[in-house]
Amino acid sequence: MSDQTAPSSTDQTLANLLKEDRRFEPPAELAAAANVKADAYDAARADREGFWAEQAERLTWDTRWDRVLDWDNAPFAKWYVGGRLNAAYNCVDRHVEAGRGDKVAIHWVGEPEGDTRDITYAQLKDEVSQAANALTALGVGAGDRVAIYLPMIPEAIVTMLACARIGAPHTVVFGGFSADALASRIDDCQAKVVVTADGGYRRGTASALKPAVDEARTKTDKIEKVLVVRRTGQDLSVDGEDGWDDAVDVWWHDAVGGASTEHTPEAFDAEHPLYVMYTSGTTGKPKGILHTTGGYLTGAAYTHNAVFDLKPDTDVYWCTADIGWVTGHSYIVYGPLANGVTQVLYEGTPDAPEPGRWWKIIQDYQVTLFYTAPTAIRSFMKQGHEIPDRFDMSSLRILGSVGEPINPEAYVWYRHVIGGDRTPVVDTWWQTETGAVMISPLPGVTAGKPGSAMTAIPGIEADVVDDEGNPVPNGSGGYLVVTSPWPSMLRTIWGDDDRYVDTYWSRFKKQGYYFAGDGAKKDDDGDIWVLGRVDDVMNVSGHRLSTTEIESALVSHPKVAESAVVGASDPNTGQAVVAYVILRNEAGDGGPDIVKELSDHVRKEIGPIAKPRQIMIVPELPKTRSGKIMRRLLRDVAEGRAVGDTQTLADASIMDLISAGQATSTED
Ligand code: PRX
Repeated sequence: MSDQTAPSSTDQTLANLLKEDRRFEPPAELAAAANVKADAYDAARADREGFWAEQAERLTWDTRWDRVLDWDNAPFAKWYVGGRLNAAYNCVDRHVEAGRGDKVAIHWVGEPEGDTRDITYAQLKDEVSQAANALTALGVGAGDRVAIYLPMIPEAIVTMLACARIGAPHTVVFGGFSADALASRIDDCQAKVVVTADGGYRRGTASALKPAVDEARTKTDKIEKVLVVRRTGQDLSVDGEDGWDDAVDVWWHDAVGGASTEHTPEAFDAEHPLYVMYTSGTTGKPKGILHTTGGYLTGAAYTHNAVFDLKPDTDVYWCTADIGWVTGHSYIVYGPLANGVTQVLYEGTPDAPEPGRWWKIIQDYQVTLFYTAPTAIRSFMKQGHEIPDRFDMSSLRILGSVGEPINPEAYVWYRHVIGGDRTPVVDTWWQTETGAVMISPLPGVTAGKPGSAMTAIPGIEADVVDDEGNPVPNGSGGYLVVTSPWPSMLRTIWGDDDRYVDTYWSRFKKQGYYFAGDGAKKDDDGDIWVLGRVDDVMNVSGHRLSTTEIESALVSHPKVAESAVVGASDPNTGQAVVAYVILRNEAGDGGPDIVKELSDHVRKEIGPIAKPRQIMIVPELPKTRSGKIMRRLLRDVAEGRAVGDTQTLADASIMDLISAGQATSTED
């Protein structure tokens, strides 16, 4: 891992943060009835395995485990050894068997107004069973991988659960990713079936998905069948081709609609793979993070109950994440459904058809628990409180935040404007790799501090350490580590055990700590402030993007010779992508549209989310004598600071050229 120092600007930010002295005590009523109370921390510390055995009792096991944790072959963990269970049974059937079949599992809200569906647990069980039968008929067996490339429609949840039901690990690819990104993920985990839709609604228009799957099929030969949900009814043809291949494509309403609603779930080993979720790493190739069944489901269900103080009989829960990210996996599908909650699922964007859409949904469905990302909160702050003020959101009792550090002002605005100053805000730190929340306040216990994720939740042990792996004293910063294994931890990187060990367990090998890649500080009370990534991974709107991946995309453009990408702090998206590009000689100055051309290229190669905020055409890049790009200096320029120490540069004059060029750079 390179460049392991947190950017200097975060230190300055921290100096301000540490002056934060606002505290928000839990509401008395909430504290009195809280699912998890203060004693849980000590109880978990005193008997960790006993604590996690107790949490696993939340699930229904076909065969009970005989050992809670096998860490003999660290860092390869086995949790609930010998246990057998079915994840879909736990999320659906058992609620129906307990007499809650008529309870609404999903209030689905389509983006076009009035386009809604309420799905009960009994209906969900029928649909999941039908989809399981249909996937089996398409040749999917236990252990086979299925790729899911769908909008936020109920079929996305149904497909994930159907895969879990038959033991076929799913890999959900975010619908905003391009055909290339889809193809490389399918290739990596060798998914043989893709489940997609004709399209989905985004900002009032039907946006196509199926053509990207067709394009992906020209880049990978792994895909045998494509199951297509008809969502928008849009025309599938592209460039005169009809966009349908009878040998491969199957309509969902035929295959699933025609299947039986009877399906007996089979119990799988606790360590049976549940899903692979791709996330950006420090090299170009995304990492397939593998989660398995028993430990993951235990972690998701426990944290969802503890962090949101879930009361399944009365709460209405809503998480705005997309199903294509880990938050959608743990806190839309597995945690909430294992806990038998009623939840809202919304298809579209927050501002369609009008900027108050989210708040209207909260009002209409009387949402009590709401989970979103700082980037969304900041964009609402920008629009002002007048829009949310028009809605009655008095049903809300807890607000959650995830994906990136939440600035204290955004936290206070969220609590005040959305939560009416009644609701605790839980700032939850975790990662695709951790599977479930690790560091967070407990809403009935912790006096919240704006901007701090506070402390590890009961059962989790985390610390901030220095270069040598020693805990830093209060008031100091360092690396965020997890110091003991936890049930929902990733088990490996798909197909690459060495990279798993290297990436997460080699930095503090001696101590056996998991290194998360984040920098953090402990304040004077010992509470944790997560400061962001210390590696070459950016966090744009709560989503991890790899600088290398975007650089590779830029260099694949015929006019580009070399590029360097950095994450620059951005008032709206947390960080934004800033690219420095050297053109090939034969490209001259690249022509008048070069910035747009390159920007469109990145969009096509990776997806709109990776589109640079700014592209600067430069004559050279700052490099050390050994040829390593000095990103720190490029970040200085991108963030408009005086350029730092240039002593180790091979040619110091380069920074003058780049800084001078900054004034005339083009923004797309
Ligand atoms: O840098 C941290 C940031 O998001 C990274 C994990 O990204 P991803 O795997 O995509 O998962 C996002 C949803 C869990 C972390 O390494 N991050 C996430 N939550 C927080 C955060 N940074 C600060 N505070 C948080 N609450």
